[in-house]
Amino acid sequence: MSTAWKSRYAQRTKDIKSSTIRELLKITQKPEMISFAGGLPAPDVFPIDRFQEACKRVLELNGHQALQYGATEGYEPLREMIARHIARYGIKAHTENVLITSGSQQALDLIGKLFINAGDRVLVEAPTYLGALQAFNVYGAEYISVQSDEDGLRTDLLEEPLRSGPKFMYVLPNFQNPGGTTLSEGRRHQLVLLADKYGIPIIEDDPYGQLRYEGEHPPPLVVIDRENLRRDGGYSIGNVIYLSTFSKTLAPGLRLGWIVAPPDVIAKLVQLKQGADLHTSTFAQVIAYEVAKDGFLDEHVKLIRKVYRERRDVMLEALKKYFPSEVTWTHPKGGLFLWVTLPEGMDCKSLFDIALKENVAFVPGDCFYAGNGFSDEGRRHMRLNFSYGHPEQIREGIRRLSVAVKQQMRELQVAHV
Ligand SMILES: Cc1ncc(COP(=O)(O)O)c(C=O)c1O
Repeated sequence: MSTAWKSRYAQRTKDIKSSTIRELLKITQKPEMISFAGGLPAPDVFPIDRFQEACKRVLELNGHQALQYGATEGYEPLREMIARHIARYGIKAHTENVLITSGSQQALDLIGKLFINAGDRVLVEAPTYLGALQAFNVYGAEYISVQSDEDGLRTDLLEEPLRSGPKFMYVLPNFQNPGGTTLSEGRRHQLVLLADKYGIPIIEDDPYGQLRYEGEHPPPLVVIDRENLRRDGGYSIGNVIYLSTFSKTLAPGLRLGWIVAPPDVIAKLVQLKQGADLHTSTFAQVIAYEVAKDGFLDEHVKLIRKVYRERRDVMLEALKKYFPSEVTWTHPKGGLFLWVTLPEGMDCKSLFDIALKENVAFVPGDCFYAGNGFSDEGRRHMRLNFSYGHPEQIREGIRRLSVAVKQQMRELQVAHV
């Protein structure tokens, strides 16, 4: 007798769809395709030799521990290293504040599990990281989307949404995915003050902060929050939970991220993580520690910055050279993405089909909006990744994309080109 699995799926899974990006990645894997769609780090900068040495050393000297079950909180030396490492950005964390997760993506899922009841509203930027929406959707999240611009989230628009009592805000202050924008220092202070005024906590997702190609690091929200706490001498639990990852600095295949939070929140997350996967791979954690230690990670990040800065500049130059003047784009100071705005009336979904015929791919902007009246806005945008392709592929890919853009502009009679 066959079982009708479909009729047995839990209610919370009914509206869940696959990630558009993951689906796109399948289409764009033809060898002749130049894809700006994925958020992939450049494989040519993976420190493979260093991984090889680390694996050999770990298996020779520490194999019994590295292959054993481990603590849910994570491998202690790695947690200590992370606490030391983030101190340079002013984030004062002890080991007990750090929980290692299976990528930041698991951190988002655990946060959803811990905080979201069906129907709770989460305040997000418009546009925002699609993977966070996917993680929160399962728990029945609804969204309040607040517009962002070149300086990140529009904090001048926040008071009213905050007054309506969202469960928390989810914010990407550095080199936002997909926008490539950075939240200005003034807005960071304003955001933290408003969070405190209305008692709405912040999830600060920062996978790209270290990949800065120009300018100074503005203080993380978690640091501003701590400073305000000290000055007010008030409550001892911060308003900000901070997330980051080794995916963009070492290798995404490790699946290693971390959460920095007050110890009682960590304790609760640990309980939830036990039910999810007991703990993050011990082997991956021990290897990551061995690879990153003795200053290697810092040196490696310098190399990544150099390679990605060059690729960003190549993309910016190519856009200027090939794209019609009616199209605009962000100038990201770091990270992996830039965000293109097409003239009014353009439709990135049909543009995507035209682009595929030209053998070039991007992510249509509408994937990154959580709704609330932004669906039309999404149609005018595309997210382009500049970390993955070699400079000559980036130039050629932008040339091909410009052909597709001009074709749609002609077809829709958007402007004379
Ligand atoms: C903003 C943001 N958060 C989280 C993640 C997930 O990263 P991880 O590979 O650590 O799961 C990504 C991945 O691209 C991201 O862009």
